[in-house]
Amino acid sequence: MQLVIFLFLTVFPRIFALGGNFAQDFDITWGGGRARILHNGELLTLSLDRASGSAFQSKSKYLFGKIAMQLKLVPGNSAGTVTSYYLSSTGSTWDEIDFEFLGNMSGEPYTVHTNIITNGKGDREQQFHLWFDPTASFHTYSILWNPHIIIFYVDGTPIRQFKNMESRGVLFPNRQPMRIHSSLWNADDWATRGGIVKTDWSKAPFIASYRNFSAQGCLWTQGSVPSCGSGSYPRIRELDSASLKRLTWVRKKYMIYNYCIDKKRFPNGFPPECVGGD
Ligand SMILES: *[C@@H]1O[C@H](CO)[C@@H](O)[C@H](O)[C@H]1NC(C)=O
Ligand SMILES: *[C@@H]1O[C@H](CO)[C@@H](O)[C@H](O)[C@H]1NC(C)=O
Repeated sequence: MQLVIFLFLTVFPRIFALGGNFAQDFDITWGGGRARILHNGELLTLSLDRASGSAFQSKSKYLFGKIAMQLKLVPGNSAGTVTSYYLSSTGSTWDEIDFEFLGNMSGEPYTVHTNIITNGKGDREQQFHLWFDPTASFHTYSILWNPHIIIFYVDGTPIRQFKNMESRGVLFPNRQPMRIHSSLWNADDWATRGGIVKTDWSKAPFIASYRNFSAQGCLWTQGSVPSCGSGSYPRIRELDSASLKRLTWVRKKYMIYNYCIDKKRFPNGFPPECVGGD
């Protein structure tokens, strides 16, 4: 009996935390039949056609955690389409941690657009190209969000970090619980080459696929403190030296935009979090 209780307490929470099922954990919020949950909840597809895109969001809200998802992006000519995958709270002073994948013409690279919004204010864009074709197979995109740091990962490689710099007066998202969101939509007024390349509707429907979701984090239940097992997600304060090396490699070879060095945009000085080039 004791062993059973022991197993229940130690093994099951882990299993529940890792084995994401789209049917159980997510709601389709837009696009009706364009968003589909398949294979007993193991696969989710979003589609976009001329009439509408589609979207889904997690049933649960989290306050801190490590969220991971495998995505296969719209293949072929995906110019004009945007696949977003982000954490967001609600209200006019919301917090948000964003991945957006901007499509491109066949053979041209996707752009991974990232942003961090605190209290409704963002303007913290960094953009990257990838070192693989994100439409050929599934790759893992994760967000680690703890009270000390936010890290964006692609296949385990950190591409961006945002440290808690409240001591410098920079707001950090640490009060509002967030849901996981994803959507596929038409943004051909700005997405590809700044809006020059339009969506080719003859190629519709455009389809992005999702699998193997996992959320290790603190579940938020209405009106109560968040419940999170100790050690349920990494509590690291900074990247270790091997990870920092990877981050430096990505920034050097694949970063294509960094607001922190965009002098035209900030002629009177960079935002305070930019000290150190982050
Ligand atoms: C599309 O391809 C062009 C040319 O390679 C590249 O400059 C651009 O960053 C790519 N991505 C988008 C979203 O335009
Ligand atoms: C599914 O995701 C988990 C957690 O991110 C990872 O450890 C595991 O390797 C993934 N499984 C597959 C089949 O990719």
